[in-house]
Amino acid sequence: MPRHFLRDDDLTPAEQREILDLADRLKAHPLTHRPLEGKAVAAIFEKNSTRTRVSFEVGVAQLGGTSVIVDGRTMQLGREETIEDTSRVLSRYVDVVVWRTYAQKRIEAMASAASIPVVNALTDEFHPCQVLADLMTIRERHGRLAGVTATYLGDGANNMAHSLLLGGATAGMHIRVVSPVGFEPRTDILGDATKRAEETGGSITVLDDPHAAVDGSDVLVTDTWTSMGQENDGRDRVSSFRTLRVDAALLDRAAPGAIVLHCLPAHRGWEITDDVLDVPASAVWDEAENRLHAQKALLSWLVTHP
Ligand code: CP
Ligand code: NVA
Repeated sequence: MPRHFLRDDDLTPAEQREILDLADRLKAHPLTHRPLEGKAVAAIFEKNSTRTRVSFEVGVAQLGGTSVIVDGRTMQLGREETIEDTSRVLSRYVDVVVWRTYAQKRIEAMASAASIPVVNALTDEFHPCQVLADLMTIRERHGRLAGVTATYLGDGANNMAHSLLLGGATAGMHIRVVSPVGFEPRTDILGDATKRAEETGGSITVLDDPHAAVDGSDVLVTDTWTSMGQENDGRDRVSSFRTLRVDAALLDRAAPGAIVLHCLPAHRGWEITDDVLDVPASAVWDEAENRLHAQKALLSWLVTHP
């Protein structure tokens, strides 16, 4: 059975650490490691992407492999070929499939029929490659992950919130989430994250007051209020999310030396303001760069851990 990376808790704490350590080494020596020599990676996108697409393509090349980037909207998948049949065929051509799609159950179906690793490049529920890069960035800035407090402000039911809960808990972090009523994290994911946190010495807390939530926090994390696919769902996000905007006043209430993360793309002036994006406390550009290093480490690990 190949290993897949469909959600953050697919990695044990030790495996997550191993991948983050490798990511640090690859950042220091980007062109020294070529485990994908003679191998191919298909990266399929059913939603828009800048960072994920480019960082996977460049990363595979740096690891000595070949990538095939496919617009999923042009595949036979869109004409009723099943996900499982697509997976069986791709398994005959390439060594890893990377997929950005909608429902998590779609990528689970891809993995169920694959004889090669399948990597989640964002679903409606999880964005685990992003959170690997986020963890790498937090460790760079704060020197450790275990015991660090990160507060997520925004849509608690979206992919970033869910992945931060699971990935942060795996790293032994204290994860706080503040979201408006009706946008809370999924109960089963909160349960899984809490269980993981109990094993690692971390903790999971859901709060409703943003000021209390950022008090003593080492990292503030936010994301768009409207994720891809939610543009026309008719829900009023602006009035309920306004109090969760990450700006200089909110950052002032966090712990000394606190940093700000945003997976990007940012909607300046909405969920985040220029006075926290374009200042030294902002780690968002390192965070974006670290997608490359973290994904290279992940791919290297997956192809060498059958
Ligand atoms: N953060 C992120 O996944 O960016 P893209 O949507 O541009 O890939
Ligand atoms: N939550 C966002 C993340 C974008 C990288 C979305 O799904 O659109």
